[in-house]
Amino acid sequence: MIIILGDNKDTHSELVSCKLKKLQEDYCFLDTSLYPENLLIKWNPDKNNEGYLKIKNKKINFKDIKSVYWRNFNGIKFEKIENDDFMTDILYRERKSALYSLFYSLKTNWVNSMEAFEIHQKKAYALHLMKENNIRIPRTLITNDKNTIEEFFEQNNGEIIVKPILGGAYTEKLTKKNITKTRLQSLKLVPAQFQEYIDGDDIRVYAFKNDIFAVKINSNTVDFREDENAQLTKIELPQKVINDCYKVMKILKLKYSGIDIRLNKNGEYVFIEANPAPMFIHAEKVTKYPLTKSLIDMLINL
Ligand SMILES: Nc1ncnc2c1ncn2[C@@H]1O[C@H](COP(=O)(O)OP(=O)(O)O)[C@@H](O)[C@H]1O
Ligand SMILES: [Mg+2]
Repeated sequence: MIIILGDNKDTHSELVSCKLKKLQEDYCFLDTSLYPENLLIKWNPDKNNEGYLKIKNKKINFKDIKSVYWRNFNGIKFEKIENDDFMTDILYRERKSALYSLFYSLKTNWVNSMEAFEIHQKKAYALHLMKENNIRIPRTLITNDKNTIEEFFEQNNGEIIVKPILGGAYTEKLTKKNITKTRLQSLKLVPAQFQEYIDGDDIRVYAFKNDIFAVKINSNTVDFREDENAQLTKIELPQKVINDCYKVMKILKLKYSGIDIRLNKNGEYVFIEANPAPMFIHAEKVTKYPLTKSLIDMLINL
């Protein structure tokens, strides 16, 4: 049994399920938004890997789970109990703790694990881990103190970007003109991530257990996702960069990853981030790299 964490509304989950079906592999979607009503768990932490999930009445014993493809975690239901914020909070935290504990403990071939996702959600920590292991990352400032921005701007010769710490907005280049007082007002609500601007080409690496595939993305915007006409071309990476990709995966506990790199004008490969559940359908279509097959192989062959 292979579990697809997510639902069939997502094109990547759907594609993986179709391939598994063709190969006559048993699979099941695990949509966490069904929990707790339609997703029951039974688990004894003192008896390793004994227990089951019941997804809409379909019982799946832990021992039959060969691997998990973690595509989307659909969250945990949050119900507001009227006039009782305390109970609302407790319910949510208890549900979360039970499911997270199970995901951490279940010994199977997680592609990728909860631990890897949790590290990824603490992006600044992931950067810190990379730097500690001698991976080249952009000079980075995380702050909600607006008085520190100007100094960082000067230190980087006026070439900096701003982006969220976790995500949810595009990367934007900052100039003297657009670092206005009003803009910096938002730091009163939330810290932001400032980085030296890496002027150069975007590279996306699809890294699997045994294979690595790289594409260069040519676009006219700072964040290539804003550019509908971005061009993808296959490239080869130097062995040192391939080694660094595997090193990053090891540090961030990733079994496979979509790694974002920028190649600067001095020929340095600067690591931006390593994603635990990257999209790959478009890149596969354009480059004909066997990305789906590499992923399926990891799920089936262990
Ligand atoms: N320091 C930087 N210099 C230049 N471009 C950057 C920098 N940081 C991010 N970008 C661009 O923005 C894109 C998105 O940033 P990223 O950190 O990967 O966030 P997200 O989680 O939104 O993908 C990157 O793939 C890259 O093209
Ligand atoms: Mg990215």
